Order: sequence, then structure tokens, then C-alpha cells
Amino acid sequence: MTDALRLVDITEDHLDAVLRVRARSFGPLPASSREQWTKDAVEFLTDGRYVGVADGDEVVAAARIWDFQQWWGGRQVPMAGIAGVVVSPEYRGRGVGSMLMRGVMQRSIERGCPLTALYPATTVIYRKLGYEFGGGRYRFSFQAADLRSLGGRGVSIRRAGPADAGRFLELVAEAHEGARASGVLGWPEAKVAEWLADDEDIFAYLADDGFVVYNWDGNNLRVDELIAHSEETARALWATVGSGSSTARTVHAYVSPNDPVHLLAQLEADKEMQVQHWMLRLLDAPAAVAARGFAPGVAVEAELQLDDAEVPGHAGRWQLSVADGAGKLTPSSGTGDVLRLGARGLAGLYAGTPLASLRASGLATGGSVRDDGALDTAFGGPAAYMLDFF
Ligand SMILES: CC(C)(COP(=O)(O)OP(=O)(O)OC[C@H]1O[C@@H](n2cnc3c(N)ncnc32)[C@H](O)[C@@H]1OP(=O)(O)O)[C@@H](O)C(=O)NCCC(=O)NCCS
Repeated sequence: MTDALRLVDITEDHLDAVLRVRARSFGPLPASSREQWTKDAVEFLTDGRYVGVADGDEVVAAARIWDFQQWWGGRQVPMAGIAGVVVSPEYRGRGVGSMLMRGVMQRSIERGCPLTALYPATTVIYRKLGYEFGGGRYRFSFQAADLRSLGGRGVSIRRAGPADAGRFLELVAEAHEGARASGVLGWPEAKVAEWLADDEDIFAYLADDGFVVYNWDGNNLRVDELIAHSEETARALWATVGSGSSTARTVHAYVSPNDPVHLLAQLEADKEMQVQHWMLRLLDAPAAVAARGFAPGVAVEAELQLDDAEVPGHAGRWQLSVADGAGKLTPSSGTGDVLRLGARGLAGLYAGTPLASLRASGLATGGSVRDDGALDTAFGGPAAYMLDFF
């Protein structure tokens, strides 16, 4: 049966079959969501970002590729976000998912993405293909009444609309560059404008130097993003959300573990912290290294050997040079024992996982542990996080 399997680009004619596989993978799609699902699907497929596996004419597996930017060390790097990976039950466990993911990785390389990331429902298949944990999506919970009392009354705040999308993105860029943020996604202005147009489901407020986007979450409130460039604005925006304390007891918030709100709120966040881990893979190590930011004030020269049978294009021996907050990989003809990484080890290092952890899990070997500290510092920084699930 599997001899006839081939990679295909999903077309509109395939969408019924994809929905059938999807229902068997994630549960049936509610009728009310079908129109939006189809609209999104068409967007992906017209742009070559919907890859499938077909057996003869029948589609038996599919996955979508998001065209994201992802902040690393305060700079944006193109990243292929993989979502909706589904294999029809009768085809599972015989390599169809892996075949699909190889097609997805190849397409991502063709599209010029040096990185790919995903939220794994199971890590096994993705680890085999070179993905490793890159960071988390953290949800902290605060008492609305506590946030309400944070003050900032002198700061003027107004309701935001689609025309503010550009300003939102400027504030985001300033914040992530300044914090040397890693992991968090960058969105196109048109998408942000689309969200801001939906002022029934999204409550967005803008100050001179910050904004908040929040929403109901059952009987509670949920902050999807809050950026503030001053203490007073942070207080004002959190207090605006907390002003709902008469009807909402808790404010859930997607924020970085390093977010200043942890230092501003009087009461410790409820012990309901949730984290969803996402995985990262490098598809083009020299491009990924050249595009990201590195810790300022750190100069490193190190050789490394990259083993990557799935993406042979970037495998081999490299000289890593980091200086003035930037890095580059150049081919090396050196011999001898150097730091040796597979795709998973490289993803871990890139995401700031300490080399001691990578060595202790067998993901890094060779070279001298005495050199690890400098590499950890170069790739390190605030913990990598995402705000969005995809
Ligand atoms: C997860 C899924 C995509 C895997 O597809 P598949 O065709 O079975 O994958 P493969 O046969 O290529 O498996 C590759 C490896 O992953 C392992 N694997 C696959 N599914 C697994 C699972 N649910 N739990 C643990 N390991 C799993 C396989 O055993 C295999 O490892 P092995 O070679 O050591 O045996 C498929 O089961 C599916 O569609 N599940 C429902 C939807 C879902 O969870 N999608 C993933 C969203 S991130």
C-alpha cells in the first residue's frame, strides 16, 4: 500500500479529505468553525504552504506551514511554524507522518526559512527528525483585585482600532529589541489590523508607550499581550484589566517569565502556572546564526561539528564567530576533537539551553567543557517564550 504514497500540495479539491483526517485526529470541527477553517486553508494552499501525502488520489496526511518571524536575541528570524499535522488512523505507525514532515521541512527550506518550530502533541516523531524543546508558552494567573490596585491613573489610555496596528508593531519591536527577547513571534501588520478590527472579541487599549490586548476567558479575563515601556504605563494597563475585578476573580496572562508584572503585582501569581513547550529545529545553520542577535559584549571563537542526516546541506564542520552582538558560521577544514552536535543539540544551543544540560542528555559531546561557558553566554539571555499557540 505504501508504495503508492507521494507528497502533494493540498488543493481545494482535497479539503474534504483533509477535514476527514482532521476529525479523526483532533475531533470533529464544529459546523460554526467550518467556514473560517476553509478560508484559512485556502490561504495556506494558494501560497504553497499546505503539504500532504496522498495514496493514489486520496489525501491521507496533511500539515500547514505558517510564515512567521521569530525573535531571537532581539532580532527577527524567518521561521516556518508547522501546524495541523494529521495522519489518517489506518496509515499511522508506518512512517507516513515522518514522510509528511520531511516534505514540510523541504518546503520550508525552499521558502527560505532557516528555522522551524511547532507545538508537539507527541515529541517522539519530531525528535527523530531533529526538533528539540526551544521554549515555552507560559500562562500565569493573577488576582484581578491585585492588578486593579496597581495605579498608573495619570496615564491616558484609549481604545485601539485597526489603524493602530503599525504603532502596536513599533512598540513590540522596541520592547523585544530592548529586552533581547527570544522565541516570541512577529506578526505581519495586516494580521494585527485584522485582530484590532474585531473589537467584540478583543479588547485593545493603547497608551503613548504601551498597549494591552485582552479578552474574556470563561468567567475570568485573559491578557494575550501587554507591552509597556515605562513603569507607570505597565501599572495603568494592568490596572485597566484588573478593573474587571467586580465580575472576574482571576486574570490569566500570557507573558514572559521575565515580565515586569511579576515584580509589580503584590500577590504572587496563583500556583496555576501553565506551560506548553514548543520545539525548534534549524534548517540552515549559517543563515539562522547570521540572522539572530547574540549577547552583547561577548566575543567567542569556537569550532563545532554538526551532524544532520535529515538536512545534509548544513552538516559539517563550522567555525562559529560571535562579536558585537552578531554571529557567523564559516566552513572549517580543521580536524581533531571539537564540540559535536546533532540537529537536536544545535536547536537546544540556539534556544539557550545550557551546554551542561545538552551534554548530560547526550545531545552534545566532544570539545572541552571549559569552552562551554562562553558559548552559553553568547547564546543565552532571557528565557525563550511564545505568546501564541498555532
Ligand atoms: C502523531 C502522528 C502525526 C504520527 O504519524 P505517524 O504516521 O504514525 O508517524 P510515523 O509512523 O512516521 O512515526 C514516527 C515515529 O514517531 C513515533 N510515534 C508516532 N506517533 C506516536 C505517538 N502517538 N506516541 C509516541 N510515539 C509516536 C513512531 O512510533 C515512530 O517512532 P519509531 O520509528 O521509533 O517507531 C499521527 O499519529 C496523528 O495524526 N495523530 C493524531 C494527530 C496529532 O497528534 N498530530 C500531531 C500534532 S503536533
